[in-house]
Amino acid sequence: MYESRPNDMHPFWMPFTANRDFKSNPRLMVSAKGMHYRDVDGNTILDGTAGLWCVPLGHAQPKLVKAVQDMVAQLDFAPTFQMGHPSAFELAERLMTYTNHRFGQVFYTNSGSEAVDSALKMALAYHRARGDSTRTRLIGRERGYHGVGFGGMSVGGIANNRKTFGSLLPGVDHLPHTHNLEKNAFTRGEPEYGAHLADELERIVALHDASTIAAVIVEPLAGSTGVLVPPKGYLKRLRELCTKHGILLIFDEVITGFGRLTTPFAFDYFDVEPDMVTVAKGLTNGVVPMGAVFSKKHIYDTMMQGPDGIELFHGYTYSGHPLACAAALATLDIFEEQKVLEHASSLTSYWADAVHSLRGLPHVIDLRNLGLIAGIELASIPGKPGARAFNAFKQAFADGILIRTTGDIIALSPPLVLEKSHIDELFGKLAAILKTLE
Ligand SMILES: Cc1ncc(COP(=O)(O)O)c(C=O)c1O
Repeated sequence: MYESRPNDMHPFWMPFTANRDFKSNPRLMVSAKGMHYRDVDGNTILDGTAGLWCVPLGHAQPKLVKAVQDMVAQLDFAPTFQMGHPSAFELAERLMTYTNHRFGQVFYTNSGSEAVDSALKMALAYHRARGDSTRTRLIGRERGYHGVGFGGMSVGGIANNRKTFGSLLPGVDHLPHTHNLEKNAFTRGEPEYGAHLADELERIVALHDASTIAAVIVEPLAGSTGVLVPPKGYLKRLRELCTKHGILLIFDEVITGFGRLTTPFAFDYFDVEPDMVTVAKGLTNGVVPMGAVFSKKHIYDTMMQGPDGIELFHGYTYSGHPLACAAALATLDIFEEQKVLEHASSLTSYWADAVHSLRGLPHVIDLRNLGLIAGIELASIPGKPGARAFNAFKQAFADGILIRTTGDIIALSPPLVLEKSHIDELFGKLAAILKTLE
């Protein structure tokens, strides 16, 4: 058991981390159960972020633990190139049922980033298979996050994630983001202003011509850039425009998939059907890495019409790993057996009240919520963007709550199995921190 501090922290080059700052004052988790982590000093920390948005069922669900233990003893690994194993097929069937058969096929990956790059490649391959091979452009959105592969980075719209890494993919353009504090600050749920921003796709089409555009990819609700809730009607409009111009619409549901908005997927919540969906995180409750792309049946069917042989030259050694399949099947069981979505739905108005109770506290310039998500935007310390929220994060950890920050925005996304008492603790402690924050 790893219960003590490591001797030397330098060999691990940590991802998306201020390595020097962290290693001078580390936050080390050693165990987790239900709604809580325990750190190396024995402190209990309430998980206000479901890990990294990926533990909707809470930690150490016994059925999930057992499913993975059983599978590793039975089938530790089997390839899915030119062979397979039953649980990968069973999971695909279960997932398609979970989408209400709106989608026909699942392609497995190991992460959200891989799911995004896979979906982009599938969009290009699909158009080519239809004889429409001039459709090679990919359209993302400013402030979008689609992981860290070259495809995802290119369609993503976060300057810090892009600027160090060269010219990225050619032929990419971006829709404007929908964040507007002047019009929408302190909105409960979906903001009224901004559906017209989807019409910017017409401008992009006019510039490049529809015949050159393969796909548009957006997060239905942008999580990583600070909880940007889509304006009312925005996603429907985007769907209409994509259909009008023969462009595939991809929803990146790596964060919103598996109940975050209290429906199985965001496309259920907004009642808008994309052509492809990328998922990861909650798919296995974060227990084993796994991502996936859901595709409409017509996309798969088109790809199956070429000459005999391999239809898509793409895949990962661990696509459909047996342990990941076991974890995902158990996750779906638990969602159903414990009526997790019903429970989450019963908490959304209590959650929204708690979020908006922070109005008027020092530094708070916006509060946003949807499902069991909150965005708390703080005014920046002049000349030090991100510092105020990061200080809040450190203080929160010391006070026993896990929050997440991006720039000066605090994002909350707790496990969906939380109770009202957890909401009280989370927002009670956060309010106290905001009152003392520099
Ligand atoms: C919308 C979205 N897409 C893709 C990713 C990348 O997923 P991963 O970190 O599993 O590669 C994330 C991660 O937060 C995400 O939020």
